[in-house]
Amino acid sequence: MVKISKNFTSIAPYYDLLMKRINYREWMFYVESFIKAHRKTTRSILDIACGTGNGLMNLRENYEIYLAFDRSIEMIRVFKKKIDRYASHSPIIFVADARKIPLLDNSVDVAFSIFDSLNNLLRPKDLKKTFKEVYRILSHGGVFVFDLNTVHVLKEKWGTKTRIEEDEDMVSIWRTRYHAGVSELHITLFVRKENGRFIRIDEIHRERGYNRDEVLSMLKDAGFRITEAYEHLTYSPPKKDSFRINYVAVK
Ligand SMILES: C[S@@+](CC[C@H](N)C(=O)[O-])C[C@H]1O[C@@H](n2cnc3c(N)ncnc32)[C@H](O)[C@@H]1O
Repeated sequence: MVKISKNFTSIAPYYDLLMKRINYREWMFYVESFIKAHRKTTRSILDIACGTGNGLMNLRENYEIYLAFDRSIEMIRVFKKKIDRYASHSPIIFVADARKIPLLDNSVDVAFSIFDSLNNLLRPKDLKKTFKEVYRILSHGGVFVFDLNTVHVLKEKWGTKTRIEEDEDMVSIWRTRYHAGVSELHITLFVRKENGRFIRIDEIHRERGYNRDEVLSMLKDAGFRITEAYEHLTYSPPKKDSFRINYVAVK
């Protein structure tokens, strides 16, 4: 029988290889443009659901304090190894759940969360809880930038499909199924090890799609004074059939 690992555990050492086509540099440039639009100076910045740290490590501006957390200890482990090798600054990295952030009230200037991470919150009440937590830890005038996949992309684009990607040392199979607002993605990886043999890894990832109006209303309820929504990687309003929406909220 196939062993299914908990999401973002067995896959963690191969996550960066799977994401090698993602332009994190451009993505973070976009995130930082919102920060600069709303703040003159920023001392501290937090990456929520940082995974292996690709968001934080691609920031261009200089800050005094870098913080990052993720629920998966395995993803954090990969991030920490990369920091040892490349980083000029030393972020404070920890394991935590976005619904209960172990930071003091009003303690962080900016928070961001990229790459559908918050779609992993499968119940709207958990997303609401997260927004309240982020509001609590942000300082007055603090900015929160994040993105979310829409219901449309999970239902229509991901739908029920199978996709296969091949590399010299890895084959990945991506099987998606959409049901009642939630997309279930079964990832199977075959990875070649040093001895030439392949190992198999299976994980199931789930995402709930969220639409603009419900997200903006949750942000308002959490207390944010300014809330904005953009078509991802643009400065235009989202469309009816947007795949991913970028949000900006100011405390
Ligand atoms: C698609 S990965 C994105 C990682 C990283 N932000 C990036 O852009 O590469 C989603 C991440 O969200 C994390 N995650 C999911 N639910 C979480 C939660 N409730 N609290 C903290 N992290 C969570 C997962 O462990 C995973 O590392």
